[in-house]
Amino acid sequence: MAKKTLADLPNLRGKRVLVRVDFNVPLDAAGNITNDRRIRAALPTLQYILDASASAIVMSHLGRPKGDPKKDAPYKMDRAADRLGQLLGRPVHKVNAVVGPDVAAAAQKLQPGAVLVLENLRFHPGEQAGDAAFAAQLAQLADVYVNDAFGTCHRSDASMVAVPAAMPSKPRVVGKLVAKELEILDELLSAPRRPFLAILGGAKVSDKIGFIKSLLTRVDRVLIGGAMTYTFMKAEGQGVGNSRVEVDKLSQARELLQLGKGKIILPLDHLVVEALDKPDGARVVEGNIPEGWIGVDIGPRTIARYCEEIGKAQTVVWNGPLGKYEDKPYSQGTRAVAKALAESPAVTVVGGGETAEAVEAFDLADKMKHVSTGGGAFLEYVEGTPFPALAQIEDRKTS
Ligand code: 3PG
Repeated sequence: MAKKTLADLPNLRGKRVLVRVDFNVPLDAAGNITNDRRIRAALPTLQYILDASASAIVMSHLGRPKGDPKKDAPYKMDRAADRLGQLLGRPVHKVNAVVGPDVAAAAQKLQPGAVLVLENLRFHPGEQAGDAAFAAQLAQLADVYVNDAFGTCHRSDASMVAVPAAMPSKPRVVGKLVAKELEILDELLSAPRRPFLAILGGAKVSDKIGFIKSLLTRVDRVLIGGAMTYTFMKAEGQGVGNSRVEVDKLSQARELLQLGKGKIILPLDHLVVEALDKPDGARVVEGNIPEGWIGVDIGPRTIARYCEEIGKAQTVVWNGPLGKYEDKPYSQGTRAVAKALAESPAVTVVGGGETAEAVEAFDLADKMKHVSTGGGAFLEYVEGTPFPALAQIEDRKTS
């Protein structure tokens, strides 16, 4: 690990540690947390700090609030703080502000082993503006800065960049989650065991052009699924019926197919329906999708072929569901691939976001070598985008 980690700090006793976590968890319409994976992922770091007789000031964003207190209410950090308290098995104090006198007073009072959660960072305009004065107020709260927010590492929000920049003489390290993510992804990018297989799905090609290009230079094979299939099929001149297509991305899709010649495999058959709410009328077609029909999943021949490829691979990276998996009748492809990965002895790395949610929904997350907490961050890291947030973390001295 090139960056300093928590383990590089010899003595945390009595220190106040400012920990940037990514508690940007999915919420239902009432603001309840529907998946607490990102909160659980921060526990090793927080527990380590508390066990070392230090206190933790926990800060995160949640959602994309618009500055309207009524509409933004579901994005308050209260539920995340409650959930954290349950998981840690100790009281967690939450303040209703991001910075200011109440926050400073609460931080001042912290005793070793105590946890303070700040209000949603994005309730303050300084966060996304990367504002230095705002960052200085956060920086003053603590003796140590820890970045344990892998899912936000591709952002340059104040808490990710300006806050550690405002703490030049204090330790600035990554937490256990970020350290683990970087270690696994760096190994994947630098020394993968071969054959190295990528499985790419999800709705859009446009979100993943750089990611796919980067992978094409590294992997031996790419299996395509999800709605992005239909953009690739259309780019090849195949019939896609009424399936979802990004018409403005056809030339980029063609370019990717050209770059990936001999590596990219498109589905051989498709599960199609006449209307999304009519799963009973679903049928399987090979090749072109007929007019009036919508592709919703990969078909059985494709599932068999993809599972065979998984069986041969030594390393597999997977990002994006292979069909409309959230609707059970259309979840076969995603489920079968998740199961094949769970049974494979290969190094299996699953990208965050929807793919992680799918693997969790099938109860197979523990069977993977790694399920990333990063959605966009995972894609951008693999793509090779430099992260200013990580540049702010101290380098480990190499002798
Ligand atoms: C994510 O979920 O990708 C991160 O928490 C970043 O959130 P954002 O896309 O709203 O910046």
